[in-house]
Amino acid sequence: MTLPSIDREFEGKTAFVLGGSSGIGRASAELLADRGARVVIVGHAEDTLTVAAELSDNGKRSVIGIHGDGSDSGFVRSAVDRTVSEFGSLDIIMCSAAIHPLGNVVETDEATWDRTFAVNVKSMYLTCHFGVPHMIESGGGSIITVASVQATSNTPNVCAYASTKGAIVTFTHTLAIDLAKHKIRANTICPGSIITPMQEHFARGNGEGKSIEDMYKVFARPVPLQRLGEAWEIAELAAFLASPRSGFCTGSQFTADGGLLAGLRIF
Ligand SMILES: NC(=O)c1ccc[n+]([C@@H]2O[C@H](COP(=O)([O-])OP(=O)(O)OC[C@H]3O[C@@H](n4cnc5c(N)ncnc54)[C@H](O)[C@@H]3O)[C@@H](O)[C@H]2O)c1
Repeated sequence: MTLPSIDREFEGKTAFVLGGSSGIGRASAELLADRGARVVIVGHAEDTLTVAAELSDNGKRSVIGIHGDGSDSGFVRSAVDRTVSEFGSLDIIMCSAAIHPLGNVVETDEATWDRTFAVNVKSMYLTCHFGVPHMIESGGGSIITVASVQATSNTPNVCAYASTKGAIVTFTHTLAIDLAKHKIRANTICPGSIITPMQEHFARGNGEGKSIEDMYKVFARPVPLQRLGEAWEIAELAAFLASPRSGFCTGSQFTADGGLLAGLRIF
């Protein structure tokens, strides 16, 4: 098989990036668009349309923004419909949206538990539920879900968040198994600590008066590479998984954590 040059490898493809207005989703949307994709970013943050305008870089990249709640069925259906009516196809779905409340099982109230599953997991289900029929029409595609190292190994007080991440890994397995016959691949990225607005929020929540920079040093201590990751490093992995270069990968988890999960931190 002859693969297109990596520079414009997504030319003619449409990508829908849920959570594309910030952090890992934003960096991935930018890279996909740089390499030729028409990209729709969906975000809950007020600045989603402004971010889309920034990413489009005065029309040099093809990016539109849609602002709304990814856990709302009617909203997701209309966002997917708009994607296909404006761009004509749907080839790549990336689901990166999440919220990250802190708390153990007693501290986590029912509303927080439900909301975390709605934003982190149900939004993926809705995006795939409405998006996959269009992907099938496009002749196949790639779905990238974003879980976390917290899917398998946990810090304290992330009861709801980490539980959603385990669910995402299983959800992605089901996509891979059920959709392979339609030439749709599905893989999960499990990032470690990556510098994004969510990481800042996590650092503040665990900070006990320390600055964010000092907390990042604390988070980097158990990481063999001795640093946090950057959003573009996850975007490169997402682009690989979106591309035919990863054509034999489906139903897999790709960890990008600087070696964190490989280590036993006993001293
Ligand atoms: N940053 C890290 O260290 C890290 C580590 C492991 C996993 N992750 C995962 O990576 C993904 C991206 O995280 P990030 O660090 O870039 O976070 P971020 O907070 O920068 O971005 C989250 C995105 O989700 C969107 N979002 C939140 N609620 C939404 C809703 N109801 N509907 C639609 N969109 C909504 C936001 O608008 C934003 O675009 C998340 O799934 C997160 O759990 C991040």
